[in-house]
Amino acid sequence: MFSVTGVLFSLVALATATPTLGFGGSKNCTKVLPPPRTAGKLAHVGVNIAGFDFGCGVDGTCTAAGAWPPLAEYYGHDGAGQMQHFVQNDGFNTFRLPVGWQFLTNDLESGVLNSTNFAKYDTLTCLGTGAHCIIDVHNYARFNGEIIGQGGPNDTTFAQLWFNIASHYKFESKVIFGVMNEPHDVPDINLWAKSVQKAVTAIRLAGARTQMILLPGNNWTSAATFVSNGSADALAKVVNLDGSHTNLIFDVHKYLDSDNSGTHDECVTNNIEEAWQPLTQWLRCNGRQALNTETGGGNTASCVTFLCQQIAFQAQNSDVILGYVGWAAGNFDTTYVLSEVPTQNGTTWSDTLLTQSCLSPKSGSQKGSTS
Ligand SMILES: *[C@@H]1O[C@H](CO)[C@@H](O)[C@H](O)[C@H]1NC(C)=O
Ligand SMILES: *[C@@H]1O[C@H](CO)[C@@H](O)[C@H](O)[C@H]1NC(C)=O
Ligand SMILES: *[C@@H]1O[C@H](CO)[C@@H](O)[C@H](O)[C@H]1NC(C)=O
Ligand SMILES: *[C@@H]1O[C@H](CO)[C@@H](O)[C@H](O)[C@H]1NC(C)=O
Ligand SMILES: *[C@@H]1O[C@H](CO)[C@@H](O)[C@H](O)[C@H]1NC(C)=O
Ligand SMILES: *[C@@H]1O[C@H](CO)[C@@H](O)[C@H](O)[C@H]1NC(C)=O
Repeated sequence: MFSVTGVLFSLVALATATPTLGFGGSKNCTKVLPPPRTAGKLAHVGVNIAGFDFGCGVDGTCTAAGAWPPLAEYYGHDGAGQMQHFVQNDGFNTFRLPVGWQFLTNDLESGVLNSTNFAKYDTLTCLGTGAHCIIDVHNYARFNGEIIGQGGPNDTTFAQLWFNIASHYKFESKVIFGVMNEPHDVPDINLWAKSVQKAVTAIRLAGARTQMILLPGNNWTSAATFVSNGSADALAKVVNLDGSHTNLIFDVHKYLDSDNSGTHDECVTNNIEEAWQPLTQWLRCNGRQALNTETGGGNTASCVTFLCQQIAFQAQNSDVILGYVGWAAGNFDTTYVLSEVPTQNGTTWSDTLLTQSCLSPKSGSQKGSTS
């Protein structure tokens, strides 16, 4: 039975308990640090189950009516069935569930969750499968065109949303809080880090003290420019209530097509030199970790080649890259260019080429060699 637990928390508590951003920032090591011998197996491997985010534009104009929940009984593809299949057949253990801010609440300021809508979303949380579940607010750092903390909703409003979500999941150790999908064109990265800090503080104050929280950088959460364009430096200062960085994990995305947009069915790069090498170096140097919550490509030979290489590299650096989550299954049509939607025939599910060949840990992709 679902009940709204969050409601209003004390704005005073947030104001007084909020740690200010930590000092010191990050280091740029010049000496190349190799992965430890223990690296080799990724902790989090899975796929996005999309649909609750449908209707969201890159300017944060989500419409609740545009959401297309992947719930078989009402709306189309059976997201829960897909997750069962992926766990049993492919060994996936982590799913990301994108959802629009506007779908979650009708009252921006209080962030009180819409009980009808949230109950539907909660139905899909993957806890029944035993897998980890990433709550992903899919709003591009915006609400209806305006940037959080920089002209749009203020940080307290954003924190209020997260307080309510985290209150509901505070005892669920396998829930992972994905603060925001793909911030882009955010003018001030340091102000953005402050907004992220408020969300982190609200999640921890709600009682979710230890779960993983994903911190997103600018430029569509680009893995390639995370360090070079200042996101790493700014977000490294975000801290828990006690000033630590425990389970504060950086969120990074990377596609493999010609313009890194994830809209073409052919892949042209494994991203190792331009993205994963500099990122792993910085993470190791600073004692931090990242999770690649969106990656993928078409169901083509080029994408099989390059994605398998990317995954093998990530696995070789599993001390700092925690894993990957493919884009996407859920309510996409099986003809969608980046479809990872398995097809169901009776009780039999069939995976796409890319899932079978690379994304599934059972494909052996984590053991591949990139040399
Ligand atoms: C929840 O949102 C829907 C629109 O998505 C709306 O029709 C409904 O009235 C809202 N329910 C509550 C309890 O606010
Ligand atoms: C944040 O915005 C809300 C709604 O616009 C407003 O009521 C509140 O006072 C603002 N809070 C701060 C700290 O500015
Ligand atoms: C965003 O990342 C791309 C590479 O993926 C890079 O070409 C571009 O310059 C970056 N833009 C900004 C604003 O950082
Ligand atoms: C590390 O390098 C990045 C990009 O070159 C730069 O923005 C940042 O200020 C550097 N940090 C330090 C501590 O030197
Ligand atoms: C960094 O971001 C700025 C805009 O914020 C952009 O002009 C520049 O090209 C970016 N640099 C890189 C290396 O991505
Ligand atoms: C579904 O499975 C049945 C029985 O195994 C088979 O006869 C049928 O051809 C399959 N349909 C599709 C579309 O693959």
